[in-house]
Amino acid sequence: MSASSKVVIVTGAARGIGQAICERLSEDGWHVVCADIAEQENQDTAALVRGDPVTCDVGNEDSVEALVRLVAEKYGRLDGIVSNAGINRFEPLSEWTLAHWDRIIATNLTASFLLARASEKLLRSTKGAMVLMTSTRAHMSEPSTFAYSASKGGIIALTHSLAMSLRPDVRVNCIAPGWIDTGKYAIEPGDHEQHLVGRVGRPQDIAAATAFLLDGEQSGFITGQEIVVDGGMTKKMIYV
Ligand SMILES: NC(=O)c1ccc[n+]([C@@H]2O[C@H](COP(=O)([O-])OP(=O)(O)OC[C@H]3O[C@@H](n4cnc5c(N)ncnc54)[C@H](O)[C@@H]3O)[C@@H](O)[C@H]2O)c1
Repeated sequence: MSASSKVVIVTGAARGIGQAICERLSEDGWHVVCADIAEQENQDTAALVRGDPVTCDVGNEDSVEALVRLVAEKYGRLDGIVSNAGINRFEPLSEWTLAHWDRIIATNLTASFLLARASEKLLRSTKGAMVLMTSTRAHMSEPSTFAYSASKGGIIALTHSLAMSLRPDVRVNCIAPGWIDTGKYAIEPGDHEQHLVGRVGRPQDIAAATAFLLDGEQSGFITGQEIVVDGGMTKKMIYV
């Protein structure tokens, strides 16, 4: 890491969107602290971007505080946080336990509160920025997405609450990805065609939006906002 490098924590770094964000930010000159619960895959991402791997459960208070403490001790600065780690569970209502609900809320929503609280001093001193990951599922549903939708709706509200509370030092925004192909599902031609832009999203689409929102030179007048990156799908009127 060069002396002038800005330091960013990316959670959910081990794969998918988080890994693409690590790659993009590293290309842009950030020093990336890769945080994930999946130890081996996270080490692979960190090696790829010459960053630091930190095994962390973002829904756990002690784990998040240890992550931020490590950054403070090692680098003495923190310029950005990308709170991206997320999990889902799509099952009929009767098959949900309170433990299922709590785990998703902790990972997808409480984590961003814990990261903000642990990092406030560091982020204020660098005039840093936070990017939280919501979803278009905060606004629209398929059946059985209960805790996922609720957690993502909560992220939009937490974003403006944090932006108001950390002003004027720290900007806080969230990104709502639509369908992003991370290789988990086979994509059919019709999946691409239904999007206004003619294709399903790529992790790099979200990485580009993240890089923009972290860069105060480019996005210094944007805070408290939700940026939807979904190929236009939420603007499509559908009567069934
Ligand atoms: N892929 C999409 O289409 C899509 C759409 C909308 C929103 N999102 C959101 O984008 C984010 C990334 O999605 P993805 O598709 O890359 O997911 P993914 O499942 O490929 O990766 C999620 C990462 O989070 C990590 N993780 C899970 N629980 C964790 C915990 N408790 N602590 C630390 N790390 C943990 C996983 O190990 C994994 O590396 C999520 O917040 C997701 O809700 C994704």
